[in-house]
Amino acid sequence: MDTTKEHALDKKAGPSAQTAIVMEVNNVTKVFDSAAGRVLALRGINISIRKGEFVAIVGPSGSGKSTLLNIIGALDKPSSGRVYINGIDVFALSDSEMATMRNHLIGFIFQSYNLINRTTVLKNVELPGVLSDMGSDERRRRAEKLLEVLGIGDKAGFKPVNLSGGQQQRVAIARSLMNDPAIILADEPTGNLDTATGKEVFDLLKMLSSKFRRTIIMVTHNPELAEACDRAIYIRDGRVEKEVINN
Ligand SMILES: Nc1ncnc2c1ncn2[C@@H]1O[C@H](COP(=O)(O)OP(=O)(O)OP(=O)(O)O)[C@@H](O)[C@H]1O
Ligand SMILES: [Mg+2]
Repeated sequence: MDTTKEHALDKKAGPSAQTAIVMEVNNVTKVFDSAAGRVLALRGINISIRKGEFVAIVGPSGSGKSTLLNIIGALDKPSSGRVYINGIDVFALSDSEMATMRNHLIGFIFQSYNLINRTTVLKNVELPGVLSDMGSDERRRRAEKLLEVLGIGDKAGFKPVNLSGGQQQRVAIARSLMNDPAIILADEPTGNLDTATGKEVFDLLKMLSSKFRRTIIMVTHNPELAEACDRAIYIRDGRVEKEVINN
């Protein structure tokens, strides 16, 4: 995998662009206002993540993990605070610059896979390449290669719904890698899988981190997986409760 793309937005880089810090979350808060009332989902989160780190985000249900991950990935905006990716102040970008950054730098993996069932596995994996204007030949070649690498090359023509949970999650991982992102965000990627399959999916992510130096931020409820990451960040009531560095 090539790593040049993560510098594609260096023109807008801020002070920390030259360090190995790939992401900084500064005093991020998130308030949800709805008819049912006001929820303080994040109450001032500070996190900094180095290139190539594999970080687990752990915490009780409702503590703000998905909210944090969505903000880190620029899928949602914070109520206050800043997020820097490669030194770029993400929420100071225009909507189209933000979309470009998200598409090139970040890959998403979700608990429920979020695959499109009316089309094939191959087309699902190709999708981020369509959004980034990759040529159709290259797109196809790359999608086939990723499926091969992830051990499901023979499933390219299937509909996702006809695959097992573990196979569907591999498709989602392949899709997340389509644009060769520097950062992979995974929200309970093993949550719907049995223990053995979950471990296989985890090992794939671990391999991306150690062998390809992808930065991976993974929400998990599984303490064993959290301990197998480089660092575990524990969230409670919208705050960082503690951080544990693992060996
Ligand atoms: N769109 C929304 N509107 C209103 N409240 C929301 C919204 N999204 C999340 N919340 C609230 O914010 C808080 C944090 O939710 P979040 O989904 O981040 O929790 P979580 O840690 O991911 O939980 P889980 O482990 O169950 O996935 C919860 O109280 C939730 O009800
Ligand atoms: Mg969640």
